[in-house]
Amino acid sequence: MPSNVIVGLQWGDEGKGKITDLLSKNSDYVIRYQGGNNSGHSIHVKSSRFILHLIPSGVIYSNVKCIIGPGVVIDPKSFIKEIQDLELMNINTSKVFLSKRAHITMPYHRLLDQYKEEILKNKSIGTTHRGIGPTYEDKTARMGIRALDLLNLKNFYKKLKYNINFKNKIITKIYKKEPIVFKLIYEEYVEYAKAISNRIIDAVYEIHDAFYNKKKILFEGAQALLLDIDYGTYPYVTTSFTSTGGVCIGTGIPPHFLENFIGIAKAYCTRVGFGPFPTEINNDINNIIRKKGNEYGSTTNRPRRCGWLDLIALKYSCMINGIHFLIITKLDVLSELEIIKVGIKYKYNGKIIKYFPANIEEKDIEVIYIDFPGWEKDISHINKYENLPKNCKKYIKFIEDYLNIEILLISVGSEREQNIIKNKYSFFKIFS
Ligand code: GDP
Ligand code: IMO
Ligand code: MG
Repeated sequence: MPSNVIVGLQWGDEGKGKITDLLSKNSDYVIRYQGGNNSGHSIHVKSSRFILHLIPSGVIYSNVKCIIGPGVVIDPKSFIKEIQDLELMNINTSKVFLSKRAHITMPYHRLLDQYKEEILKNKSIGTTHRGIGPTYEDKTARMGIRALDLLNLKNFYKKLKYNINFKNKIITKIYKKEPIVFKLIYEEYVEYAKAISNRIIDAVYEIHDAFYNKKKILFEGAQALLLDIDYGTYPYVTTSFTSTGGVCIGTGIPPHFLENFIGIAKAYCTRVGFGPFPTEINNDINNIIRKKGNEYGSTTNRPRRCGWLDLIALKYSCMINGIHFLIITKLDVLSELEIIKVGIKYKYNGKIIKYFPANIEEKDIEVIYIDFPGWEKDISHINKYENLPKNCKKYIKFIEDYLNIEILLISVGSEREQNIIKNKYSFFKIFS
């Protein structure tokens, strides 16, 4: 059975939630493998609006088993709230599980995230303040608390004590803030342990069994390649492995289990948080796109920075991810623009280049664009490729040719049904 991976190719918020939900229909499993509740994956089904932070976007279908894998970091407070919110909306969450090996975000991680951002001042990353970086730091420092520790409160007690003593030194001496209180955190997490212990499983064996039983598995990426800790615009990145390569690291499967790598890109670019963004638009069109595309963070509600499609960055991202098929979202947002620009080359230190530099900094980069005439009409109701305006098809064809990757599907609205399946043969071969 094919196991497919969906990843974001830009700086996040490409529409992974919408597309994962759409493609979950015929899946047995949807699995998250990295990131944490820094993600915000939106799904619109008729009048219902869901924003998922930790729970995989297959949860709306009651037949889909949803696993939060070993490589994810889990904030139990946020996880429990998400479960409660879904149940209030009559979504069955009995098939949502999390890995024993996943690391747990603690209140001191959130504080350390915030304190560090504060002292960095104008050099801050613009994190989501969800404690994601500090949770991964503790994992790497071999002092993290894992979900399995919540199943053994004696161990949890000892590990928490050690961590709080350690963190209080940093909090009081470096950040000059009030120390945190062991008892309060311990009691809070004992309650969380009670609430979630029946969902904590050995996900590695569960996922391997699913493969051998020929189940259909969809891996849902969070964030995106340009936020990857190694291949993103470092240091303005998140702290996990966001590429397709992250699936194996974050779930414990070997690479040959994976079949189709599907990349999602917006028809333009956005970025929330600080850091290089070569094609950022510095005029009114930024606001027009933000308004039309409702470009506000799903997790923090911050306005997203908007820019033109950057094909140099997108090609780099497809290369690292080994993308087989592309999905382009939010094409409808560009309708009505008179001219649509696309970045095709960079001028870097005076030289024309077609690659994405490892030390990219905005001040060194000049983008060379080509201009496309707009199509200046609404396309959000169109569901056949042939019916798209001529200029719109030219834009899509240019992207496909530049990247030399087939576009499977084009999304033209936030609703589950607002799609154009461009390549029916490949689409149904992969997803039915
Ligand atoms: P994710 O993090 O990749 O899942 O993306 P987000 O959910 O954070 O942000 C994408 C936003 O765009 C959400 O509000 C979606 O409902 C919305 N969206 C997704 N696809 C489309 C589309 O094709 N057109 C429009 N107009 N909105 C879309
Ligand atoms: P989804 O899954 C967009 C950004 C933050 C910040 C940087 C580091 O919805 O696409 P962190 O809190 O991770 O330490 O912040 O990464 N960021 C995202 N931007 N979409 C996301 O997730 C993001 N998750 C983190 O804004 O710039
Ligand atoms: Mg998002």
